[in-house]
Amino acid sequence: MHQFAGRRKSSLAGAGANGAAAAYDPFGAKHAVTSLRKGGRLPVYVAGVFFCIFVLIMYGEDIRSLTLEPLTRVPPPPKLTVTSPGGGAHVVAGPRRDTSSASHQRAAVLHHDDEKQTPATTTTVKETTVRQAEEVAVPKVAAATPAEKEIKKPKKAKKKGRRQRSAKKTVMPPVLGVPETCDLSKGKWVFDNTSYPLYKEEECTFLTSQVTCMKNGRRDDTYQKWRWQPKGCDMPRFDAKLFIERLRGKRMMFVGDSLNRNQWESMVCLVQKAVSPGKKYVSWEGQRIVFHAWEYNATVEFYWAPFLVESNSDDPKIHSIQHRIINADKIAAHAEHWRGVDYLIFNTYIWWMNTLDMKVMRPGGGSWEEHDEVVRIEAYKKVLTTWAGWVNENVDPARTSVFFMSMSPLHISPQVWGNPDGIRCAKETMPLLEWHGPLWLGMDWDMFHAARNISRHAAPRVPITFVDITTMSERRKDGHTSVHTIRQGKVLGPEEQADPGTYADCIHWCLPGVPDIWNLVLYTRIMSRPALQVA
Ligand SMILES: *[C@@H]1O[C@H](CO)[C@@H](O)[C@H](O)[C@H]1NC(C)=O
Ligand SMILES: *[C@@H]1O[C@H](CO)[C@@H](O)[C@H](O)[C@H]1NC(C)=O
Ligand SMILES: *[C@@H]1O[C@H](CO)[C@@H](O)[C@H](O)[C@H]1NC(C)=O
Repeated sequence: MHQFAGRRKSSLAGAGANGAAAAYDPFGAKHAVTSLRKGGRLPVYVAGVFFCIFVLIMYGEDIRSLTLEPLTRVPPPPKLTVTSPGGGAHVVAGPRRDTSSASHQRAAVLHHDDEKQTPATTTTVKETTVRQAEEVAVPKVAAATPAEKEIKKPKKAKKKGRRQRSAKKTVMPPVLGVPETCDLSKGKWVFDNTSYPLYKEEECTFLTSQVTCMKNGRRDDTYQKWRWQPKGCDMPRFDAKLFIERLRGKRMMFVGDSLNRNQWESMVCLVQKAVSPGKKYVSWEGQRIVFHAWEYNATVEFYWAPFLVESNSDDPKIHSIQHRIINADKIAAHAEHWRGVDYLIFNTYIWWMNTLDMKVMRPGGGSWEEHDEVVRIEAYKKVLTTWAGWVNENVDPARTSVFFMSMSPLHISPQVWGNPDGIRCAKETMPLLEWHGPLWLGMDWDMFHAARNISRHAAPRVPITFVDITTMSERRKDGHTSVHTIRQGKVLGPEEQADPGTYADCIHWCLPGVPDIWNLVLYTRIMSRPALQVA
Protein backbone atom coordinates (compact mmCIF):
# COMPACT_ATOMS: atom_id res chain seq x y z
CA MET A 1 0.00 0.00 0.00
CA HIS A 2 2.91 2.28 0.59
CA GLN A 3 3.82 2.08 -3.02
CA PHE A 4 0.27 2.94 -3.93
CA ALA A 5 0.18 5.93 -1.66
CA GLY A 6 3.26 7.26 -3.35
CA ARG A 7 1.77 6.81 -6.76
CA ARG A 8 -1.43 8.45 -5.84
CA LYS A 9 0.28 11.42 -4.40
CA SER A 10 2.39 11.89 -7.44
CA SER A 11 -0.63 11.69 -9.69
CA LEU A 12 -2.37 14.29 -7.61
CA ALA A 13 0.52 16.57 -7.00
CA GLY A 14 1.99 16.32 -10.47
CA ALA A 15 -1.15 17.60 -12.13
CA GLY A 16 0.69 16.98 -15.37
CA ALA A 17 -1.11 15.20 -18.13
CA ASN A 18 1.64 12.62 -18.38
CA GLY A 19 1.62 11.59 -14.79
CA ALA A 20 -2.12 11.30 -14.93
CA ALA A 21 -1.95 9.35 -18.18
CA ALA A 22 -0.06 6.56 -16.50
CA ALA A 23 -2.55 6.51 -13.70
CA TYR A 24 -5.56 6.46 -15.99
CA ASP A 25 -4.40 3.83 -18.39
CA PRO A 26 -6.96 1.05 -17.77
CA PHE A 27 -5.24 -1.65 -15.80
CA GLY A 28 -2.15 0.24 -16.68
CA ALA A 29 -0.69 1.12 -13.37
CA LYS A 30 1.97 -0.28 -15.66
CA HIS A 31 5.04 -0.59 -13.51
CA ALA A 32 3.25 -2.00 -10.57
CA VAL A 33 1.41 -4.63 -12.56
CA THR A 34 4.58 -5.70 -14.31
CA SER A 35 6.40 -6.31 -11.08
CA LEU A 36 3.53 -8.35 -9.71
CA ARG A 37 3.19 -10.40 -12.85
CA LYS A 38 6.54 -12.05 -12.20
CA GLY A 39 4.68 -14.89 -10.61
CA GLY A 40 2.88 -15.70 -13.86
CA ARG A 41 -0.88 -15.34 -14.28
CA LEU A 42 -2.36 -12.44 -12.41
CA PRO A 43 -4.63 -13.87 -9.76
CA VAL A 44 -8.10 -12.47 -9.66
CA TYR A 45 -7.67 -10.90 -6.29
CA VAL A 46 -4.55 -9.11 -7.37
CA ALA A 47 -6.44 -7.78 -10.34
CA GLY A 48 -9.07 -6.68 -7.87
CA VAL A 49 -6.54 -4.88 -5.76
CA PHE A 50 -5.19 -3.08 -8.77
CA PHE A 51 -8.59 -2.22 -9.99
CA CYS A 52 -9.15 -0.76 -6.59
CA ILE A 53 -5.92 1.20 -6.66
CA PHE A 54 -6.83 2.40 -10.08
CA VAL A 55 -10.19 3.54 -8.83
CA LEU A 56 -8.61 5.36 -5.95
CA ILE A 57 -6.14 7.19 -8.13
CA MET A 58 -8.87 8.26 -10.43
CA TYR A 59 -11.17 9.33 -7.69
CA GLY A 60 -8.44 11.48 -6.30
CA GLU A 61 -7.93 13.28 -9.54
CA ASP A 62 -11.59 13.82 -10.24
CA ILE A 63 -12.41 14.84 -6.73
CA ARG A 64 -9.66 17.37 -6.89
CA SER A 65 -10.84 18.89 -10.08
CA LEU A 66 -14.54 18.81 -9.40
CA THR A 67 -15.20 19.38 -5.79
CA LEU A 68 -13.37 22.61 -5.23
CA GLU A 69 -15.70 24.46 -7.49
CA PRO A 70 -18.89 24.79 -5.52
CA LEU A 71 -16.96 26.10 -2.58
CA THR A 72 -15.46 29.30 -3.77
CA ARG A 73 -17.76 32.24 -3.97
CA VAL A 74 -16.69 35.01 -6.26
CA PRO A 75 -18.39 37.61 -8.41
CA PRO A 76 -18.69 36.62 -12.05
CA PRO A 77 -16.16 38.11 -14.43
CA PRO A 78 -17.51 40.26 -17.22
CA LYS A 79 -18.90 38.60 -20.29
CA LEU A 80 -18.65 34.92 -19.71
CA THR A 81 -21.78 34.05 -21.57
CA VAL A 82 -22.78 34.99 -25.06
CA THR A 83 -26.09 34.37 -26.67
CA SER A 84 -26.05 32.80 -30.09
CA PRO A 85 -28.54 33.78 -32.77
CA GLY A 86 -30.30 30.51 -32.03
CA GLY A 87 -30.95 31.73 -28.52
CA GLY A 88 -28.86 29.11 -26.73
CA ALA A 89 -26.34 30.41 -24.26
CA HIS A 90 -22.78 29.33 -24.74
CA VAL A 91 -20.06 29.51 -22.24
CA VAL A 92 -16.93 31.10 -23.47
CA ALA A 93 -14.21 29.11 -21.87
CA GLY A 94 -11.50 31.69 -21.69
CA PRO A 95 -8.08 31.12 -20.22
CA ARG A 96 -8.14 30.68 -16.48
CA ARG A 97 -5.60 31.46 -13.89
CA ASP A 98 -6.67 29.19 -11.11
CA THR A 99 -9.48 27.01 -9.89
CA SER A 100 -11.39 29.86 -8.35
CA SER A 101 -11.94 31.34 -11.76
CA ALA A 102 -13.66 28.09 -12.60
CA SER A 103 -16.41 29.05 -10.27
CA HIS A 104 -16.72 32.41 -11.95
CA GLN A 105 -17.89 30.58 -14.95
CA ARG A 106 -20.06 28.21 -12.99
CA ALA A 107 -21.74 30.99 -11.12
CA ALA A 108 -22.31 32.95 -14.24
CA VAL A 109 -23.95 30.07 -16.00
CA LEU A 110 -26.07 29.23 -13.02
CA HIS A 111 -27.35 32.71 -12.67
CA HIS A 112 -28.39 32.77 -16.25
CA ASP A 113 -32.12 32.46 -16.52
CA ASP A 114 -34.47 31.32 -19.23
CA GLU A 115 -35.11 34.75 -20.55
CA LYS A 116 -33.68 35.67 -23.88
CA GLN A 117 -30.80 38.03 -23.51
CA THR A 118 -28.93 39.99 -26.09
CA PRO A 119 -25.15 39.85 -25.94
CA ALA A 120 -25.00 43.50 -25.03
CA THR A 121 -27.12 43.16 -21.91
CA THR A 122 -25.92 39.80 -20.74
CA THR A 123 -23.39 41.02 -18.24
CA THR A 124 -25.61 43.59 -16.64
CA VAL A 125 -28.50 41.24 -16.30
CA LYS A 126 -26.36 38.65 -14.67
CA GLU A 127 -24.81 41.00 -12.20
CA THR A 128 -28.21 42.19 -11.21
CA THR A 129 -29.28 38.64 -10.69
CA VAL A 130 -26.28 37.96 -8.50
CA ARG A 131 -26.89 41.04 -6.41
CA GLN A 132 -30.51 40.16 -6.12
CA ALA A 133 -29.52 36.70 -5.08
CA GLU A 134 -27.28 38.08 -2.38
CA GLU A 135 -30.02 40.23 -1.00
CA VAL A 136 -32.54 37.46 -0.97
CA ALA A 137 -29.94 35.00 0.18
CA VAL A 138 -30.15 33.54 3.62
CA PRO A 139 -26.61 34.00 4.85
CA LYS A 140 -26.23 31.07 7.19
CA VAL A 141 -28.45 31.00 10.19
CA ALA A 142 -28.53 34.70 10.89
CA ALA A 143 -31.21 35.79 8.45
CA ALA A 144 -33.32 32.68 8.57
CA THR A 145 -36.87 32.72 7.32
CA PRO A 146 -39.60 32.85 9.96
CA ALA A 147 -40.15 29.12 9.66
CA GLU A 148 -36.49 28.43 10.22
CA LYS A 149 -36.32 30.72 13.21
CA GLU A 150 -39.27 29.03 14.69
CA ILE A 151 -37.71 25.63 14.50
CA LYS A 152 -34.49 26.87 16.07
CA LYS A 153 -36.13 28.36 19.13
CA PRO A 154 -35.72 26.57 22.42
CA LYS A 155 -37.91 23.52 22.84
CA LYS A 156 -40.89 25.15 24.47
CA ALA A 157 -41.28 27.77 21.79
CA LYS A 158 -40.78 25.17 19.11
CA LYS A 159 -43.64 23.07 20.39
CA LYS A 160 -45.92 26.02 20.42
CA GLY A 161 -44.86 26.90 16.88
CA ARG A 162 -45.56 23.42 15.67
CA ARG A 163 -48.99 23.36 17.13
CA GLN A 164 -49.82 26.65 15.49
CA ARG A 165 -48.50 25.49 12.20
CA SER A 166 -50.24 22.17 12.20
CA ALA A 167 -53.55 23.90 12.77
CA LYS A 168 -53.10 25.64 9.45
CA LYS A 169 -52.14 22.56 7.52
CA THR A 170 -54.13 19.78 6.00
CA VAL A 171 -53.03 16.40 4.80
CA MET A 172 -53.42 15.99 1.06
CA PRO A 173 -53.99 12.52 -0.38
CA PRO A 174 -51.26 11.08 -2.59
CA VAL A 175 -51.31 12.02 -6.25
CA LEU A 176 -49.80 8.75 -7.43
CA GLY A 177 -50.49 5.21 -6.32
CA VAL A 178 -47.16 3.46 -6.74
CA PRO A 179 -46.92 1.17 -3.71
CA GLU A 180 -43.95 1.44 -1.35
CA THR A 181 -43.58 -2.30 -1.67
CA CYS A 182 -42.72 -2.06 -5.36
CA ASP A 183 -38.95 -2.26 -5.67
CA LEU A 184 -38.14 0.45 -8.19
CA SER A 185 -34.49 -0.55 -8.31
CA LYS A 186 -35.03 -3.83 -10.14
CA GLY A 187 -35.97 -3.65 -13.79
CA LYS A 188 -34.59 -2.82 -17.21
CA TRP A 189 -33.72 0.07 -19.50
CA VAL A 190 -36.10 0.50 -22.42
CA PHE A 191 -35.34 2.68 -25.45
CA ASP A 192 -37.98 5.41 -25.58
CA ASN A 193 -37.30 8.33 -27.87
CA THR A 194 -40.82 9.67 -27.70
CA SER A 195 -40.96 10.49 -23.98
CA TYR A 196 -37.26 11.03 -23.40
CA PRO A 197 -35.27 13.08 -22.70
CA LEU A 198 -37.44 14.74 -20.07
CA TYR A 199 -35.97 18.14 -21.02
CA LYS A 200 -33.60 19.34 -23.67
CA GLU A 201 -30.03 20.12 -22.79
CA GLU A 202 -30.13 23.52 -24.48
CA GLU A 203 -33.44 24.41 -22.83
CA CYS A 204 -32.17 24.12 -19.29
CA THR A 205 -29.84 27.05 -18.93
CA PHE A 206 -29.12 26.18 -15.33
CA LEU A 207 -26.96 23.26 -16.38
CA THR A 208 -23.26 23.71 -15.77
CA SER A 209 -20.64 22.94 -18.38
CA GLN A 210 -19.66 19.91 -16.38
CA VAL A 211 -22.70 18.00 -17.62
CA THR A 212 -23.75 19.51 -20.96
CA CYS A 213 -22.18 16.73 -22.98
CA MET A 214 -23.69 17.59 -26.36
CA LYS A 215 -22.60 21.19 -26.13
CA ASN A 216 -19.17 19.92 -25.16
CA GLY A 217 -18.92 17.90 -28.32
CA ARG A 218 -20.59 14.56 -27.76
CA ARG A 219 -22.02 13.24 -31.02
CA ASP A 220 -24.37 10.41 -30.01
CA ASP A 221 -27.43 11.34 -27.97
CA THR A 222 -28.93 7.90 -27.47
CA TYR A 223 -27.91 8.05 -23.82
CA GLN A 224 -30.71 10.57 -23.25
CA LYS A 225 -33.45 8.25 -24.47
CA TRP A 226 -33.76 5.46 -21.99
CA ARG A 227 -36.74 4.87 -19.77
CA TRP A 228 -36.36 2.82 -16.62
CA GLN A 229 -38.94 0.08 -16.41
CA PRO A 230 -39.20 -1.48 -12.92
CA LYS A 231 -40.20 -5.11 -12.73
CA GLY A 232 -43.28 -4.95 -10.59
CA CYS A 233 -44.90 -1.61 -11.41
CA ASP A 234 -44.70 1.39 -13.69
CA MET A 235 -43.01 4.68 -13.03
CA PRO A 236 -45.05 7.77 -13.81
CA ARG A 237 -43.99 10.54 -16.13
CA PHE A 238 -42.42 13.48 -14.38
CA ASP A 239 -45.04 16.20 -14.08
CA ALA A 240 -43.19 19.42 -13.31
CA LYS A 241 -46.35 21.36 -12.56
CA LEU A 242 -47.60 18.82 -10.04
CA PHE A 243 -44.23 18.61 -8.41
CA ILE A 244 -43.61 22.32 -8.03
CA GLU A 245 -47.08 22.57 -6.53
CA ARG A 246 -46.01 19.97 -4.01
CA LEU A 247 -42.93 22.09 -3.29
CA ARG A 248 -44.93 25.29 -2.86
CA GLY A 249 -43.72 27.11 0.26
CA LYS A 250 -41.22 24.32 0.86
CA ARG A 251 -37.53 23.63 0.72
CA MET A 252 -35.92 20.61 -0.88
CA MET A 253 -32.24 20.08 -0.19
CA PHE A 254 -29.67 17.68 -1.57
CA VAL A 255 -26.80 17.18 0.88
CA GLY A 256 -23.57 15.42 0.02
CA ASP A 257 -20.90 15.18 -2.65
CA SER A 258 -20.65 16.08 -6.31
CA LEU A 259 -22.85 13.18 -7.37
CA ASN A 260 -25.64 14.64 -5.32
CA ARG A 261 -24.90 17.96 -6.97
CA ASN A 262 -25.24 16.18 -10.31
CA GLN A 263 -28.68 15.03 -9.18
CA TRP A 264 -29.53 18.50 -7.89
CA GLU A 265 -28.81 19.97 -11.32
CA SER A 266 -31.10 17.39 -12.84
CA MET A 267 -33.86 18.24 -10.37
CA VAL A 268 -33.52 21.94 -11.10
CA CYS A 269 -33.95 21.25 -14.81
CA LEU A 270 -36.93 19.01 -14.19
CA VAL A 271 -38.82 21.53 -12.07
CA GLN A 272 -37.75 24.81 -13.68
CA LYS A 273 -39.94 24.08 -16.72
CA ALA A 274 -42.97 24.78 -14.55
CA VAL A 275 -41.69 28.15 -13.32
CA SER A 276 -42.30 31.25 -15.43
CA PRO A 277 -39.30 32.95 -17.01
CA GLY A 278 -37.82 35.59 -14.75
CA LYS A 279 -39.24 34.02 -11.61
CA LYS A 280 -36.36 31.69 -10.95
CA TYR A 281 -32.66 32.06 -10.30
CA VAL A 282 -29.76 30.32 -8.62
CA SER A 283 -27.71 31.81 -5.81
CA TRP A 284 -24.51 30.72 -4.12
CA GLU A 285 -24.39 30.96 -0.37
CA GLY A 286 -21.22 29.51 1.07
CA GLN A 287 -21.53 25.77 0.90
CA ARG A 288 -25.03 26.03 -0.48
CA ILE A 289 -26.36 26.50 -4.00
CA VAL A 290 -30.00 27.46 -4.10
CA PHE A 291 -32.46 27.35 -6.95
CA HIS A 292 -35.28 29.76 -6.13
CA ALA A 293 -38.67 29.35 -7.72
CA TRP A 294 -39.99 32.48 -6.06
CA GLU A 295 -43.29 32.33 -7.86
CA TYR A 296 -43.91 29.27 -5.69
CA ASN A 297 -41.79 30.36 -2.74
CA ALA A 298 -39.99 27.07 -3.21
CA THR A 299 -36.30 26.22 -3.25
CA VAL A 300 -34.32 23.27 -4.50
CA GLU A 301 -30.94 23.44 -2.80
CA PHE A 302 -27.61 21.70 -2.74
CA TYR A 303 -25.46 21.68 0.37
CA TRP A 304 -21.85 20.62 0.07
CA ALA A 305 -20.81 18.13 2.78
CA PRO A 306 -18.92 15.30 1.09
CA PHE A 307 -18.66 13.26 4.29
CA LEU A 308 -21.88 14.54 5.89
CA VAL A 309 -19.93 14.86 9.15
CA GLU A 310 -17.38 17.56 9.80
CA SER A 311 -13.92 17.21 8.36
CA ASN A 312 -10.77 19.24 7.92
CA SER A 313 -11.77 19.53 4.27
CA ASP A 314 -14.91 21.55 4.84
CA ASP A 315 -13.17 24.85 4.41
CA PRO A 316 -13.65 26.04 0.85
CA LYS A 317 -10.10 27.25 0.51
CA ILE A 318 -7.88 25.29 2.86
CA HIS A 319 -8.14 21.59 2.40
CA SER A 320 -6.17 18.72 1.14
CA ILE A 321 -7.53 15.58 -0.45
CA GLN A 322 -4.63 13.45 0.71
CA HIS A 323 -4.64 14.68 4.27
CA ARG A 324 -8.32 14.88 4.89
CA ILE A 325 -9.44 13.86 8.33
CA ILE A 326 -13.01 13.41 9.43
CA ASN A 327 -14.60 13.93 12.78
CA ALA A 328 -16.99 11.02 12.75
CA ASP A 329 -18.91 12.23 15.81
CA LYS A 330 -19.46 15.85 14.82
CA ILE A 331 -22.13 16.91 12.38
CA ALA A 332 -23.76 19.99 13.94
CA ALA A 333 -21.89 22.64 11.95
CA HIS A 334 -23.35 21.24 8.75
CA ALA A 335 -26.63 20.05 10.16
CA GLU A 336 -27.60 23.54 11.32
CA HIS A 337 -28.20 24.27 7.65
CA TRP A 338 -30.54 21.32 7.25
CA ARG A 339 -33.09 22.44 9.79
CA GLY A 340 -36.47 23.51 8.54
CA VAL A 341 -36.03 21.72 5.22
CA ASP A 342 -39.02 19.72 4.02
CA TYR A 343 -37.26 17.21 1.78
CA LEU A 344 -33.74 16.16 2.71
CA ILE A 345 -31.84 13.98 0.25
CA PHE A 346 -28.45 12.76 1.46
CA ASN A 347 -25.55 10.88 -0.04
CA THR A 348 -21.88 10.30 0.69
CA TYR A 349 -19.64 8.00 -1.26
CA ILE A 350 -16.95 9.08 -3.64
CA TRP A 351 -14.73 10.84 -1.16
CA TRP A 352 -14.49 7.59 0.73
CA MET A 353 -12.96 5.84 -2.22
CA ASN A 354 -9.77 7.81 -2.22
CA THR A 355 -7.96 5.65 0.31
CA LEU A 356 -8.56 2.28 1.90
CA ASP A 357 -8.37 3.67 5.40
CA MET A 358 -9.94 6.84 6.64
CA LYS A 359 -8.27 9.24 9.04
CA VAL A 360 -10.67 9.70 11.91
CA MET A 361 -10.16 12.23 14.69
CA ARG A 362 -9.94 10.62 18.12
CA PRO A 363 -13.01 11.14 20.29
CA GLY A 364 -12.31 14.19 22.41
CA GLY A 365 -9.26 14.97 20.34
CA GLY A 366 -8.20 18.59 20.52
CA SER A 367 -6.82 18.91 17.00
CA TRP A 368 -6.84 17.20 13.64
CA GLU A 369 -3.39 15.83 14.42
CA GLU A 370 -4.97 13.50 16.98
CA HIS A 371 -6.43 10.94 14.66
CA ASP A 372 -6.39 7.24 13.88
CA GLU A 373 -6.44 5.33 10.63
CA VAL A 374 -9.72 3.45 10.56
CA VAL A 375 -10.78 0.79 8.06
CA ARG A 376 -13.07 2.46 5.55
CA ILE A 377 -16.22 0.46 6.21
CA GLU A 378 -15.97 0.96 9.96
CA ALA A 379 -15.50 4.70 9.57
CA TYR A 380 -18.38 4.82 7.11
CA LYS A 381 -20.69 3.04 9.53
CA LYS A 382 -19.68 5.37 12.32
CA VAL A 383 -20.33 8.45 10.23
CA LEU A 384 -23.71 7.21 9.04
CA THR A 385 -24.65 6.35 12.60
CA THR A 386 -23.82 9.90 13.64
CA TRP A 387 -25.89 11.18 10.73
CA ALA A 388 -28.86 8.93 11.48
CA GLY A 389 -28.66 9.96 15.12
CA TRP A 390 -28.94 13.60 14.13
CA VAL A 391 -31.90 12.83 11.89
CA ASN A 392 -33.59 10.89 14.66
CA GLU A 393 -33.23 13.68 17.19
CA ASN A 394 -33.76 16.73 15.03
CA VAL A 395 -36.12 15.95 12.19
CA ASP A 396 -39.86 16.28 12.62
CA PRO A 397 -41.19 13.28 10.70
CA ALA A 398 -44.58 14.96 10.35
CA ARG A 399 -42.99 17.69 8.32
CA THR A 400 -39.78 16.44 6.74
CA SER A 401 -39.14 13.51 4.42
CA VAL A 402 -35.64 12.04 4.49
CA PHE A 403 -33.94 10.08 1.71
CA PHE A 404 -30.53 8.50 1.34
CA MET A 405 -29.28 7.96 -2.20
CA SER A 406 -27.14 4.87 -2.69
CA MET A 407 -23.79 4.86 -4.43
CA SER A 408 -23.46 6.02 -7.99
CA PRO A 409 -21.28 3.49 -9.82
CA LEU A 410 -18.35 4.44 -12.00
CA HIS A 411 -17.31 2.83 -15.26
CA ILE A 412 -13.59 3.00 -15.74
CA SER A 413 -12.78 -0.56 -16.60
CA PRO A 414 -14.37 -1.76 -19.87
CA GLN A 415 -12.93 -5.25 -19.42
CA VAL A 416 -15.47 -5.77 -16.69
CA TRP A 417 -18.36 -5.49 -19.14
CA GLY A 418 -16.61 -7.38 -21.90
CA ASN A 419 -15.15 -4.63 -24.04
CA PRO A 420 -11.38 -5.18 -24.00
CA ASP A 421 -10.88 -2.47 -26.63
CA GLY A 422 -12.68 0.18 -24.65
CA ILE A 423 -10.96 3.12 -23.03
CA ARG A 424 -12.63 3.71 -19.70
CA CYS A 425 -16.22 4.74 -20.53
CA ALA A 426 -15.22 6.85 -23.51
CA LYS A 427 -16.50 4.69 -26.35
CA GLU A 428 -19.69 3.50 -24.75
CA THR A 429 -22.90 4.50 -26.47
CA MET A 430 -25.25 1.78 -25.25
CA PRO A 431 -26.37 0.56 -21.82
CA LEU A 432 -25.75 -3.03 -20.84
CA LEU A 433 -29.11 -4.44 -21.86
CA GLU A 434 -28.45 -8.15 -21.83
CA TRP A 435 -26.21 -8.63 -18.88
CA HIS A 436 -27.02 -11.28 -16.38
CA GLY A 437 -23.71 -11.79 -14.66
CA PRO A 438 -22.65 -9.86 -11.61
CA LEU A 439 -21.08 -6.52 -12.34
CA TRP A 440 -18.03 -5.47 -10.47
CA LEU A 441 -17.48 -1.85 -11.22
CA GLY A 442 -15.55 -0.82 -8.19
CA MET A 443 -18.65 -0.58 -6.05
CA ASP A 444 -18.09 -1.24 -2.41
CA TRP A 445 -21.23 -3.24 -1.69
CA ASP A 446 -20.36 -3.44 1.99
CA MET A 447 -20.86 0.31 2.09
CA PHE A 448 -24.12 -0.08 0.22
CA HIS A 449 -25.44 -2.62 2.70
CA ALA A 450 -24.24 -0.63 5.69
CA ALA A 451 -25.98 2.49 4.41
CA ARG A 452 -29.18 0.59 3.75
CA ASN A 453 -29.21 -1.02 7.16
CA ILE A 454 -28.43 2.19 9.00
CA SER A 455 -31.04 4.12 7.02
CA ARG A 456 -33.63 1.55 8.00
CA HIS A 457 -32.75 0.98 11.62
CA ALA A 458 -30.66 3.71 13.18
CA ALA A 459 -33.34 6.42 13.22
CA PRO A 460 -36.43 4.68 14.61
CA ARG A 461 -38.32 7.95 15.06
CA VAL A 462 -37.87 9.16 11.50
CA PRO A 463 -38.42 7.04 8.41
CA ILE A 464 -35.43 7.31 6.08
CA THR A 465 -36.03 6.07 2.56
CA PHE A 466 -32.96 4.36 1.16
CA VAL A 467 -33.04 4.77 -2.62
CA ASP A 468 -31.09 2.18 -4.60
CA ILE A 469 -29.79 3.93 -7.69
CA THR A 470 -26.75 1.68 -7.88
CA THR A 471 -28.37 -1.32 -9.50
CA MET A 472 -29.98 0.59 -12.37
CA SER A 473 -26.98 2.85 -12.93
CA GLU A 474 -24.45 0.03 -13.15
CA ARG A 475 -25.81 -0.78 -16.57
CA ARG A 476 -25.38 2.78 -17.82
CA LYS A 477 -21.76 2.78 -18.90
CA ASP A 478 -22.94 5.04 -21.74
CA GLY A 479 -24.22 7.82 -19.51
CA HIS A 480 -21.07 9.42 -18.10
CA THR A 481 -19.68 12.77 -19.08
CA SER A 482 -16.46 11.12 -20.25
CA VAL A 483 -14.38 13.65 -22.21
CA HIS A 484 -17.34 15.94 -22.81
CA THR A 485 -16.92 17.81 -19.60
CA ILE A 486 -14.70 20.28 -17.82
CA ARG A 487 -11.49 19.95 -15.91
CA GLN A 488 -10.20 22.74 -13.70
CA GLY A 489 -13.23 24.71 -14.79
CA LYS A 490 -12.46 24.54 -18.48
CA VAL A 491 -14.20 22.53 -21.20
CA LEU A 492 -11.80 19.91 -22.50
CA GLY A 493 -10.18 20.88 -25.79
CA PRO A 494 -9.77 18.66 -28.86
CA GLU A 495 -6.42 17.31 -27.73
CA GLU A 496 -7.70 16.41 -24.32
CA GLN A 497 -10.84 14.88 -25.79
CA ALA A 498 -8.65 12.73 -27.99
CA ASP A 499 -7.01 11.32 -24.87
CA PRO A 500 -9.82 9.68 -22.89
CA GLY A 501 -7.35 7.45 -21.09
CA THR A 502 -6.29 10.57 -19.23
CA TYR A 503 -9.29 12.80 -19.26
CA ALA A 504 -12.51 10.78 -19.37
CA ASP A 505 -14.68 11.39 -16.29
CA CYS A 506 -16.56 8.14 -15.75
CA ILE A 507 -17.99 9.15 -12.38
CA HIS A 508 -20.33 12.01 -13.20
CA TRP A 509 -23.25 11.88 -15.61
CA CYS A 510 -24.39 13.82 -18.64
CA LEU A 511 -27.63 15.74 -18.31
CA PRO A 512 -30.26 15.11 -19.41
CA GLY A 513 -29.50 11.53 -18.49
CA VAL A 514 -29.27 8.96 -15.75
CA PRO A 515 -29.75 11.29 -12.72
CA ASP A 516 -33.12 12.31 -14.19
CA ILE A 517 -34.22 8.75 -13.54
CA TRP A 518 -32.95 8.92 -9.95
CA ASN A 519 -35.10 11.98 -9.52
CA LEU A 520 -38.01 10.20 -11.10
CA VAL A 521 -37.69 7.59 -8.38
CA LEU A 522 -37.70 10.35 -5.75
CA TYR A 523 -40.68 11.95 -7.47
CA THR A 524 -42.53 8.65 -7.52
CA ARG A 525 -41.98 8.11 -3.81
CA ILE A 526 -42.86 11.67 -2.83
CA MET A 527 -45.99 11.87 -4.96
CA SER A 528 -47.21 8.47 -3.82
CA ARG A 529 -47.34 9.65 -0.22
CA PRO A 530 -49.77 11.98 1.48
CA ALA A 531 -48.42 15.48 1.97
CA LEU A 532 -48.84 18.31 4.39
CA GLN A 533 -50.16 21.39 2.66
CA VAL A 534 -50.62 24.87 4.01
CA ALA A 535 -54.36 25.33 4.12
C1 LIG B 1 -37.16 6.90 -32.64
O1 LIG B 1 -36.34 5.81 -32.95
C2 LIG B 1 -36.77 5.05 -34.06
C3 LIG B 1 -35.88 3.83 -34.14
O2 LIG B 1 -34.54 4.19 -34.09
C4 LIG B 1 -36.74 5.92 -35.30
O3 LIG B 1 -37.19 5.19 -36.42
C5 LIG B 1 -37.61 7.15 -35.09
O4 LIG B 1 -37.52 8.02 -36.18
C6 LIG B 1 -37.23 7.87 -33.81
N1 LIG B 1 -38.18 8.89 -33.52
C7 LIG B 1 -37.84 10.10 -33.10
C8 LIG B 1 -38.95 11.03 -32.78
O5 LIG B 1 -36.68 10.43 -32.97
C1 LIG C 1 -42.20 30.66 2.02
O1 LIG C 1 -41.72 29.37 2.41
C2 LIG C 1 -41.22 29.30 3.70
C3 LIG C 1 -40.70 27.90 3.92
O2 LIG C 1 -39.72 27.59 3.01
C4 LIG C 1 -42.30 29.66 4.70
O3 LIG C 1 -41.78 29.63 5.99
C5 LIG C 1 -42.83 31.03 4.41
O4 LIG C 1 -43.90 31.32 5.25
C6 LIG C 1 -43.31 31.11 2.97
N1 LIG C 1 -43.69 32.47 2.66
C7 LIG C 1 -44.84 32.76 2.07
C8 LIG C 1 -45.07 34.21 1.80
O5 LIG C 1 -45.65 31.91 1.76
C1 LIG D 1 -28.06 -2.67 11.33
O1 LIG D 1 -28.10 -1.44 12.01
C2 LIG D 1 -28.47 -1.51 13.35
C3 LIG D 1 -28.63 -0.12 13.89
O2 LIG D 1 -27.53 0.67 13.59
C4 LIG D 1 -27.43 -2.35 14.11
O3 LIG D 1 -27.81 -2.45 15.45
C5 LIG D 1 -27.33 -3.71 13.46
O4 LIG D 1 -26.30 -4.45 14.07
C6 LIG D 1 -27.06 -3.59 11.98
N1 LIG D 1 -27.15 -4.89 11.36
C7 LIG D 1 -26.25 -5.32 10.50
C8 LIG D 1 -26.48 -6.67 9.91
O5 LIG D 1 -25.29 -4.66 10.20
